[in-house]
Amino acid sequence: MPEFDLAIRGGTVVTASDTVRADIGVCGGRIVAVAEGIADAARVIDASGLLVLPGGIDSHVHIAQDPGPGIVMADDFASATRAAAAGGNTCVMPFAVQPRGGSLRQAVDAYRAKAEGQCHVDVAIHMIISDPSEAVLGQELPALVADGYTSFKVFMTYDDLVLNDRQLLDVFHVARRQGARVMVHAEGYDAIRYLSDRLERAGETKPYGHALSRPEVVEREAAHRAISHAELIDLPIVIVHVSGREATEQIAWAQARGLKIRAETCPQYLTLTAEHMKGLGLDDPMAGAKYVCSPPPRDQESQEAVWSGIRRGIFDVVSSDHSPFRYDDPQGKLNPRGKTSFRWIPNGIPGVETRLPVFFSEGVSKGRISLNQFAALTATNHAKLYGLYPRKGSIAPGFDADLTLWDPNRRETIRQETLHHGSDYTPWEGFDVTGWPVMTIAGGQVIAEDGKVLSAPGRGRVLDRAVDPAERRDV
Ligand code: URP
Ligand code: ZN
Ligand code: ZN
Repeated sequence: MPEFDLAIRGGTVVTASDTVRADIGVCGGRIVAVAEGIADAARVIDASGLLVLPGGIDSHVHIAQDPGPGIVMADDFASATRAAAAGGNTCVMPFAVQPRGGSLRQAVDAYRAKAEGQCHVDVAIHMIISDPSEAVLGQELPALVADGYTSFKVFMTYDDLVLNDRQLLDVFHVARRQGARVMVHAEGYDAIRYLSDRLERAGETKPYGHALSRPEVVEREAAHRAISHAELIDLPIVIVHVSGREATEQIAWAQARGLKIRAETCPQYLTLTAEHMKGLGLDDPMAGAKYVCSPPPRDQESQEAVWSGIRRGIFDVVSSDHSPFRYDDPQGKLNPRGKTSFRWIPNGIPGVETRLPVFFSEGVSKGRISLNQFAALTATNHAKLYGLYPRKGSIAPGFDADLTLWDPNRRETIRQETLHHGSDYTPWEGFDVTGWPVMTIAGGQVIAEDGKVLSAPGRGRVLDRAVDPAERRDV
């Protein structure tokens, strides 16, 4: 009998703290050895010339959500996790959405049932709280946190999701008592409605109006308000999809005051700008809809501010905020109402498969961040923030054997035709990258190799998590 099920030999192992030449031995889906000279294995993979990274964890993706009447999200669990695997990821975290007036528990149970048996990579489910009723705050939420759904997102905008300040404070209060992790979508609802109304009245209805209706000040104000509420309750929160200089400054200010504010950004805020929503260079005047997401991408100065925030450690995680819709589809970006005004274009862009190559190329290959920062921002910190550590997120004995073999020199051009998601376009069409995931290993099995997904749906599990007891603090 060989000593190991799998040996990965000759690669350069990269974690958030170290870069070392080492072999990896895997047994029963877990890493059992990181050492020199591991050879006695049932299967040996030669990783010479490659980096061995912790499998990507994308802690912010939207899969099979119901966006409302007449609109359909482009990915189900099978297609989204297939795309994730091809892009070097071994775990994704989507959201079960509580409908207004509905039960959070029922939403979570139904969503989990949709995921079970469908996933190529492991999945851990966050919740979205749209209606913090007494029953939700008093019973459902505490019970769900105890059952392993330890994180949730709240929104400061969107008609069907927005919470007012009192509701935010009440939800934060319960999160603190239960030790749950809260993610905040920080954009100010009333300011967006005011601006959208004015733009529509002035006839500015094309996709670029979306950017004009959500300027940086709208995000800055909401970020500051969320930070203030978190300070009042003494709750650590994560401000997600931070898009530009102004919100980054708020977070840096809060962190300098010693507040426990954590932050996420996404590749779109590092590589795209609001100009993309003008559809420039594209024949179709509606093509800017392909870039409509919230908050909207900003400008180059803001991109540099976010990069600077990444380098200074203001950001903990880089996620995709994968929220896929088809473009050329009456149930997608070009739904009948979406053609009349930017206000009705479904928000979100596909990105789960392109997150790692785009961020590696712009970050590591261009010398902006180190390999270790890349590992931290794309895997380790996600696991630590959301209760998956030390099971996932690093390379050491005891961790799941979730690994990505990465060719740092391979040049590729991103093309929709090679991607695996359910959307019919990618915002990064024609984008040149240096650095590419050549093999994804999950639980010790090769699930993707050279753009081909080898696993069957159902290989990935739906994971339960537990809160850190130190995070449960009575108010
Ligand atoms: O436009 C976006 N980001 N859509 C997804 C939902 C969200 O707010 O994250
Ligand atoms: Zn959001
Ligand atoms: Zn999102």
